[in-house]
Amino acid sequence: MNNPVCIEREGQIGIVITDNPPVNALSTAVRAGLMEAVETLDSDPEIKAIILHCEGRTFHAGADIREFNQPPAEPYLGAVIDRIEACSKPVIAALHGTALGGGFEVALSAHYRVMHETGKVGLPEVKLGLLPGAGGTQRLPRLIGPRAALKLIVSGDPIPASKALEDGIADEIASGDILDAAKALAGRLIDEGTPPRRVSQIDEKLVAAHGDLEGFDEFAAGLLARKHGFDSPRICVESVRNAITLPFVEGAKKEREFFLELKDGHQSAAQRHLFFAEREALKVEGVERDTPVVEVKQAAVLGSGTMGGGIAMCFADAGIPVKLIDPNAEALQRGLGLIEKNYQRSAARSGKGDGWVGERMDRITPASSMEAAAEADLVVEAVFEDMALKKEIFGELDRITKADAVLATNTSTLDVNDIATAVSDPGRVVGMHFFSPANVMRLLEVVRGEKTDSRALKTAIETGRKLRKLPVTVGVCYGFVGNRMLYARTMQVEALMLEGALPHEIDKALTDFGFAMGPCAVGDLAGLDVGWRARKQAGRTAPVADAICELGRFGQKTGKGYYLYEEGSRRGTPDPEIAALIRSIAKKMGVEQRQITPEEIFERLIYAMINEGARILEEGIASRSSDIDLIWVNGYGWPAYEGGPMFHADLVGAGRITERLDHYADMASDETLKPAPLLRRLAKTGSRFSGF
Ligand SMILES: NC(=O)c1ccc[n+]([C@@H]2O[C@H](COP(=O)([O-])OP(=O)(O)OC[C@H]3O[C@@H](n4cnc5c(N)ncnc54)[C@H](O)[C@@H]3O)[C@@H](O)[C@H]2O)c1
Repeated sequence: MNNPVCIEREGQIGIVITDNPPVNALSTAVRAGLMEAVETLDSDPEIKAIILHCEGRTFHAGADIREFNQPPAEPYLGAVIDRIEACSKPVIAALHGTALGGGFEVALSAHYRVMHETGKVGLPEVKLGLLPGAGGTQRLPRLIGPRAALKLIVSGDPIPASKALEDGIADEIASGDILDAAKALAGRLIDEGTPPRRVSQIDEKLVAAHGDLEGFDEFAAGLLARKHGFDSPRICVESVRNAITLPFVEGAKKEREFFLELKDGHQSAAQRHLFFAEREALKVEGVERDTPVVEVKQAAVLGSGTMGGGIAMCFADAGIPVKLIDPNAEALQRGLGLIEKNYQRSAARSGKGDGWVGERMDRITPASSMEAAAEADLVVEAVFEDMALKKEIFGELDRITKADAVLATNTSTLDVNDIATAVSDPGRVVGMHFFSPANVMRLLEVVRGEKTDSRALKTAIETGRKLRKLPVTVGVCYGFVGNRMLYARTMQVEALMLEGALPHEIDKALTDFGFAMGPCAVGDLAGLDVGWRARKQAGRTAPVADAICELGRFGQKTGKGYYLYEEGSRRGTPDPEIAALIRSIAKKMGVEQRQITPEEIFERLIYAMINEGARILEEGIASRSSDIDLIWVNGYGWPAYEGGPMFHADLVGAGRITERLDHYADMASDETLKPAPLLRRLAKTGSRFSGF
């Protein structure tokens, strides 16, 4: 194997150059190369200063996470980093691009840091369920103080060069060639005889923090409040706290233990699974690098209701001018008013001025006539969920829009293939299924119709990315992937209630798992009448939910739903009236009630979803199980540290799930719970969904 690390000498300066495209990841070969190069230069009497530099577009952008699933190989990054820091002559890291994770930890092992003005540094480990495991939690607090360090470590977000300079991470910022700047600094250090400055030995900031551990704990609790359920941010706090209370060597030893513990735990496995899943999801059959795509310079959104307003905001946020079209003048004004209020609220929260709001509002042009869509490159339809209306609208769009404009529908339940029949070229029709609130939720189900052409599909995906969404491509069926699986779960909610479980017991099974809310509380929040109307339209029934709606109990907005809400409160309390109502419905239907364990509730809700996921995979509605996981984590509140339903299925094993489903199907006489053929096959062969 070629050594990706080499040495160059320029007078008294030794330059360690790594060239490991594309991002100079710290693979085993790079770590070994760095170790050897630093040893060589440190013991060379001619050399008085050392520069760490990377070829290509970035300094080391991180560890090689593909090596995570293999046993660790020597030399470990921590050892390489300790060796660099121990150098007897000044070491300078020349940072350009993104020095992230292990790459940033290498930078922290240097004695000085020069950073390009466009560079970024950060420790994103927390996003993979880990903590920086090569000294990051011990060195960074010494360099910039424990609070600033903790903030950076727990957020996982990178910071720009200007902030790195302000915090004291970068000693200098360069606007020209980064290596030239590093050489200039090296020359000065040599001339001035400046000794190495080892970050592990700096302690002023820690001494100050030691006197106020309570203050640190309070600060940490504030950061953790938004990371409920995640192990890694909590452990990051503990490790940074160790930097204050323990000597460097002990703190670093504990950090390594924490790292290994997290790496081998299922939360990090889940988060790494999702990280790779996001990359996989962009690989869509038929959409290649050279597939044509429409550049969306002008968009139109039809319908200024709940969804249309949010979707228009997405375009405005992405800098794309958008026409917001609604023939109902009142609805249009209401929609625009809500958008403005939304923007004003976020401006107030983040300290952005009126200019910021105005800039966005200027990109949204209201219109009452569909003719306003004439110039649009992409139209997103978000009118009432009514097939006749949608077909009429697509027929109109066919006449009005440019022949190559892409026409998307945001329908949740209607058949995209049927809608496409209203257009002379159905190839340009695609589904773009946003989630509510559309300006906030990251998930976008891109629905490929039978006739959707690759250009329309790629345009929907690429535009989704520009709108900062996570586009996951799915096929056409009732509810697509997310709502179809949700429906399977909802059927079990109904069945479990009839058999004797109460709404708060059902909700608890899911909140205990990590969902922020259970299905009954979500129903009350969203308004039970929404589902009721949709069921009526689709000719479906749900005995308990329908009966609750018939009483005019629509959830929080009426003060009563599955739960009771005191005036002004969003916290529901169990209502004996509902318990009695459920009992009477069960009696009428001849369902015998019994005590139901939390385990049964959990398994029936979750395994029913997994079973539906298996059918979705078999039918090719989703291309891979990890796409399903992304949909549930990003659109339905499945906790990221639990990886998604199909990841969960692989953890439990298809054998056990099949056995439990068979058991519940018999017990509840519920055919829908019978294991899907794919689940049975996986159980028989001991295989997993991942890789299916
Ligand atoms: N609400 C959700 O959570 C959600 C989520 C995903 C998808 N959807 C789908 O999005 C679509 C819109 O849902 P919504 O909740 O925003 O509905 P909504 O009732 O809030 O808004 C619909 C809007 O469409 C307008 N409209 C009616 N006819 C029109 C026409 N000919 N041209 C332009 N506008 C017209 C109405 O005036 C109204 O303002 C539906 O297809 C729905 O299934 C909704």
